[in-house]
Amino acid sequence: MDVAGTVGELRLALTDARSSGRTVGFVPTMGALHVGHRSLIESARRASDVVVVSIFVNPTQFGPGEDFGAYPRQVEADLGVCRELGVDVVFLPSVDEVYPDGWGTVVGVPELSGVLCGASRAGHFDGVATVVARLFGLVRSDLAFFGEKDFQQLRIIERMSRDLALGVRIVRCETVRESGGLAVSSRNSYLSESERKRAASLYRAMRSAVDAIRRGERDSSVLVERMRAEISSAGDCDSECDVEYVSIVDSDTLRSLETVTENARICVAARVGGVRLIDNVAVDDAVATR
Ligand code: PAJ
Repeated sequence: MDVAGTVGELRLALTDARSSGRTVGFVPTMGALHVGHRSLIESARRASDVVVVSIFVNPTQFGPGEDFGAYPRQVEADLGVCRELGVDVVFLPSVDEVYPDGWGTVVGVPELSGVLCGASRAGHFDGVATVVARLFGLVRSDLAFFGEKDFQQLRIIERMSRDLALGVRIVRCETVRESGGLAVSSRNSYLSESERKRAASLYRAMRSAVDAIRRGERDSSVLVERMRAEISSAGDCDSECDVEYVSIVDSDTLRSLETVTENARICVAARVGGVRLIDNVAVDDAVATR
């Protein structure tokens, strides 16, 4: 496995792969690799000849007061995971390598960035789109793998790649969950045991809504109110849980829907004990059953 710290080393590591026309699959991450990241890397391994993983905690996607400084960093363990999963190249750049002197570009998809998480995290998705565009330019992979866990991010990257004709196919990967349903996330490491239980109410509430949709409920405001109530009242402990949003949106435009359609997605963000968690589920089969 090659570990490239600079753009030059990355180019060198990928020269052979490019000239021999092999399929390159790319998994961008911020490290602290967990089973969610593993599933992306495994998908990339199955679909590509050469697998590239980047590990870069991107400062431009963290707002003031967010956890950039505290974000978990565990490079040695991450390299072990990459080795174990048969990754060919790990790109581990410094901030200066990603944003060299004279850097002056911002990439954004305003149509999809102002809603859901974007409403409370100004500039976050521009930071994500900018770094991913830069990484795509450096790696120039055929495929790139992203988790549905961060559904808004996934949609923004799909739209950016299409609009800018970046020539990379975005592969969607299903959300990996803990046994209680909580979506696996690097930030789960901030949760206490009781908060973790509390956090599972996000997924439970969304599943109950999907069941209600299966039984015929189509009114988003009714479903959203029930989910809010279920999340706010859940838990056998006193951990705080502040719902930031519960929204039923069109999966393509991310616009909020009054009536549930088969293209709808339920999206939730909440703070449990100070930790911001997000999750989402599709409703497709629930609508199709009627
Ligand atoms: P990070 O949070 O490290 O996530 C890297 C990738 O792993 C993303 O595509 C994310 O959706 C996926 N992922 C995280 N948890 C997952 C889970 N439980 N199941 C499936 N996939 C999961 O997302 C980022 O980093 C950054 O914003 C990045 C795209 C790297 C740009 O800096």
